[in-house]
Amino acid sequence: MVSVRTVQTAPFDGQKPGTSGLRKRVKVFQTPHYTENFIQSIFAAVPKPRTLVVGGDGRYLMTDVIQKIIRIGAANGVTHFIVGRNGILSTPAASCVIRKRAADGGIILTASHNPGGPQNDFGIKYNMSNGGPAPESVTDGIYKASLELKEYKEAEVSPVDLAALGIQKFDGFAVEIIDSVTDYVELTKEIFDFELIRKFRQQTPEFTLLFDGLNGVTGPYARRILVDELGFPESSLEQCTPLEDFGGGHPDPNLTYAHKLVERVAGEKISFGAASDGDGDRNMVLSHDWFVTPSDSVALIAHHAECIPYFKNKGVHGLARSMPTSCAIDRVAAAKGLQCYEVPTGWKFFGNLMDANKLSICGEESFGTGSDHIREKDGIWAIVAWLNIIAHQSQQKAKLVDVKHLMLDFFKTYGRNYFTRYDYEDVDSAGASKMMEQLRALKKQALESSDFGGFKVSHVDDFEYTDPIDASVTSKQGVRVIFADSSRIIFRLSGTGSQGATVRIYIERYDDKDVELDAQVALRPLVLAALEISKLEQFTGRKVPTVIT
Ligand code: G6P
Ligand code: ZN
Repeated sequence: MVSVRTVQTAPFDGQKPGTSGLRKRVKVFQTPHYTENFIQSIFAAVPKPRTLVVGGDGRYLMTDVIQKIIRIGAANGVTHFIVGRNGILSTPAASCVIRKRAADGGIILTASHNPGGPQNDFGIKYNMSNGGPAPESVTDGIYKASLELKEYKEAEVSPVDLAALGIQKFDGFAVEIIDSVTDYVELTKEIFDFELIRKFRQQTPEFTLLFDGLNGVTGPYARRILVDELGFPESSLEQCTPLEDFGGGHPDPNLTYAHKLVERVAGEKISFGAASDGDGDRNMVLSHDWFVTPSDSVALIAHHAECIPYFKNKGVHGLARSMPTSCAIDRVAAAKGLQCYEVPTGWKFFGNLMDANKLSICGEESFGTGSDHIREKDGIWAIVAWLNIIAHQSQQKAKLVDVKHLMLDFFKTYGRNYFTRYDYEDVDSAGASKMMEQLRALKKQALESSDFGGFKVSHVDDFEYTDPIDASVTSKQGVRVIFADSSRIIFRLSGTGSQGATVRIYIERYDDKDVELDAQVALRPLVLAALEISKLEQFTGRKVPTVIT
């Protein structure tokens, strides 16, 4: 057995995992013992993993931390590490590998869509044997362990070669370096009708595609699937080389941060544009004449699910969305006689429903879409789902059915849930908390007596979720103001920021007549009502949002 040394340490404050693991500035993780403490706290709290998957989005500090995980993990009983080559595993690929290889868990190194590099963010997240993020009971245990930690253990081994595929044996444990992409591509091929998409691409040369990897982790996955498998030209890819600092950009697929893609899609009249975030779990879909909101995207995929072989074979067991996500998918569920679950923000809340076979397709307004093929949201999955649907519809109608047509057809069937989100980033935490306290104290009667442009309030609450499977209760998940016409305004503080507080305001209105308005125009009166109800400017000093999606 390899020799193990015990290092004396002292607890750090604030090692409490948020919505998606522990996220902090790189320099915080570089504080002596800080990272080691957190890794040791994971091993102290989770069911002892023997086989552990390790990988991440390629950001700055990742390979150093992988070496630490191997040393500390080996000293804590891990006998088999499965690591993506050069440490690279997208978040969905990590979930896929954990499941496929029946690992006991995985550690994913990412701060998702947050910028990377020495001055920016890093993150560490634990996933369970089902491939999904650790539930709160486990992350609370990690936090508790971090507060009591006095020492950590590490195996005394020299750094592992992360570039050499194959198994490296040590005394008492082994490290297996796997190709980062293969397992994931094989799974994707089982899910979708690749043959149909290939044929559609050949027969429809006017259909053009542009995928932007934002220099995050998905470049190699996109290349293998879109170019090598489906036959799109190499020129369909941009920013597809993973970089430690994402080329200085903000690897978040939305209209603000993926502006390069947005401009090219508009300028070159591209039929289908798509992007994914730093770690590959988010996605954005658009065309030169339409922007698909994530809430509409998941609803559309659910509506057309049967043309995707995975759902055709397995059936669709149920649908779900996070609370702030628009209710478009609820309408699809009602039409198909399916249950639609409403969970708090955070992909981890979908996992129990999937494990219990109650949920097949789900999504979040925060550019997250996915299914029960893994236990993370999956950017490439959503993009290929769209291609599968476009190819199928085009074959059915014997003409190109593009993004805009698909959406307009959908609205014709269901009406449209207009949706927008206003983000106020890096605001003073105290002010933001006071604003939320004030909102929590709101009463329906008080709102009813005010006039918000004629909107009548029917319900106000602070969202609380009882998990239908394990009965765990999660409270204080966002203040909902619901109006008599089913319009909603939701106020929430982000759980993923690393600096100050981020206030999110989500606004939604249903319309079954006028479905082609500009969303900002359609929602303006509700935006004004939201600002009035929250007194946002008074509490935070902010006049304009940082990002509107
Ligand atoms: C991450 C999680 C998502 C969540 C999103 C927004 O991407 O994986 O499940 O919806 O963060 O979280 P936030 O708390 O910042 O609104
Ligand atoms: Zn992500």
